[in-house]
Amino acid sequence: MTSIELRAIGKRYGAAWALRDVSLRVEPGEFFTLLGPSGCGKTTALRLIAGFLDPDEGEILIDGADVRGVPPWRRDLGLVFQNYALWPHLSVFEHVAFGLRERHVPRAERTARVREALRLVSLEGFEHRRPSQLSGGQQQRVALARTLVLRPRALLLDEPLSNLDATLRAQMRIELRRLHRELGITTVFVTHDQAEAMALSTRVAVFDRGAVIQVGTPAEVYRRPRTRFVAEFLGAANLLSGTVQGDTVRVHGAEGRRDGLRLRVADPAAGDGAPVVCVVRPEAIQRVASGAAVANRLDATVLTVVYLGGRHECELALAGGLTLRAELATHGGAEAPKPGERIVVAIAPEDVVLLIE
Ligand SMILES: Nc1ncnc2c1ncn2[C@@H]1O[C@H](COP(=O)(O)OP(=O)(O)OP(=O)(O)O)[C@@H](O)[C@H]1O
Ligand SMILES: [Mg+2]
Repeated sequence: MTSIELRAIGKRYGAAWALRDVSLRVEPGEFFTLLGPSGCGKTTALRLIAGFLDPDEGEILIDGADVRGVPPWRRDLGLVFQNYALWPHLSVFEHVAFGLRERHVPRAERTARVREALRLVSLEGFEHRRPSQLSGGQQQRVALARTLVLRPRALLLDEPLSNLDATLRAQMRIELRRLHRELGITTVFVTHDQAEAMALSTRVAVFDRGAVIQVGTPAEVYRRPRTRFVAEFLGAANLLSGTVQGDTVRVHGAEGRRDGLRLRVADPAAGDGAPVVCVVRPEAIQRVASGAAVANRLDATVLTVVYLGGRHECELALAGGLTLRAELATHGGAEAPKPGERIVVAIAPEDVVLLIE
């Protein structure tokens, strides 16, 4: 199985750097996702791995070997791009057989391999259809099958699901996961969709403006973001500025008010007086009984309520003019919060993540 490594990669277009000092290592068999907003350099990174672009700085290693000067077709990687073009006049079978024909694979083996690839993407029985007779998701599977049939060392997928509507995307996500489990093939996946990255990846590299900001499992980057950018990009986050005091943070009130609140934290990570930002995910805020003996118990007034099915997204007003976004679980017969209601919530100290500013 194949590993892919980028070492201190720099790439510029003209005078503008698209990637700067990017280092990462994709382990054999991983489903590794490059995640970041539009223009952060994801496609550039993938094209460098594929060999369609050359780096200005640094090295790329595939299975430990420097691939400088190795052309794309000799890197033995399978690529699926966002705009996978299918030919209108070719059947599904012919699409998938095309690459094998070019490589002079004998007919009997060709047929067997096409069948196997179509089975992998659940398209048995569609051999004779043309693209116009397929749904978007089925077309996407054809694009995957024609890549898989060549048995590449690794798969490079650039936003392969972005042409599909939300339902199909969710379905193809499950398909991709199953496929990856079945084949165990090293996969580098590009997306700007954090939910997709979370659902699919063994690890994620979060990109911002041409740099890798953080690499980790989905849970690590979600629960332990290292920067404000990562915290906000990976989902809703409350960010509260304050200063460390022992094992607590004194959170500043809104607009310089002095009556903020105090949060106990599991790991202060800095000495007294250090300015920090507390990251609190909405679902880490829990409603508790008013006398509950728990840390970080806070009185709150419910401002707005949106029902999300099983939970309510609320805006809460706290001391010091602060507001928090909370997702309160309301299954099991718990009362739904109502606008104007005064409630008590708590945040576990280990759910308060500190960023050193
Ligand atoms: N051929 C090119 N010539 C000049 N600039 C380019 C070229 N290709 C990309 N860029 C620039 O390099 C930066 C990174 O582009 P890239 O396509 O890698 O981003 P991306 O993360 O894939 O974005 P998206 O999510 O929109 O696909 C962008 O600022 C882009 O405008
Ligand atoms: Mg792109």
